[in-house]
Amino acid sequence: MPVTRSEKQSLIDLASTARQRAYAPYSNYAVGSALRTKTGHIFTGVNIENAAYPHTMCAERVAIFKAVSEGEKEFEVIAVVTDNGGSPCGGCRQVLAEFGLDMLVLIANGQGELLKEMTVKELLPEAFTPEHLK
Ligand code: THU
Repeated sequence: MPVTRSEKQSLIDLASTARQRAYAPYSNYAVGSALRTKTGHIFTGVNIENAAYPHTMCAERVAIFKAVSEGEKEFEVIAVVTDNGGSPCGGCRQVLAEFGLDMLVLIANGQGELLKEMTVKELLPEAFTPEHLK
């Protein structure tokens, strides 16, 4: 199902609100995400940093892991909000790709403006996916 303009903005707004709950005392770079599943459920995520830096978790993965842990594995769209419209890191691209290359990724800034949108396939060309292990 195509995602309407207002649905995109609602997801961005949810990700922006979630972003206020980011735990980013080291980088001060707060990230919020909002993921909609094919069943219509929405899971938000924030980045969660750690004094032992490598144990930090990105906002996109928090949303995906929350969803998968609740039994959802089919995703339609994820909104990612940062101050300056940063795009998902390589690790998050790989985790998104695990669950489908057609998922839409919305990139927005701290004003809640949609800056870019693309599929996971576009974000991570030539992805290594579960298909390769069959
Ligand atoms: N971060 C995310 O949450 N998602 C990304 O895709 C890129 C980076 C977080 C991790 C860290 O807490 C902060 O942004 C700076 O790297």
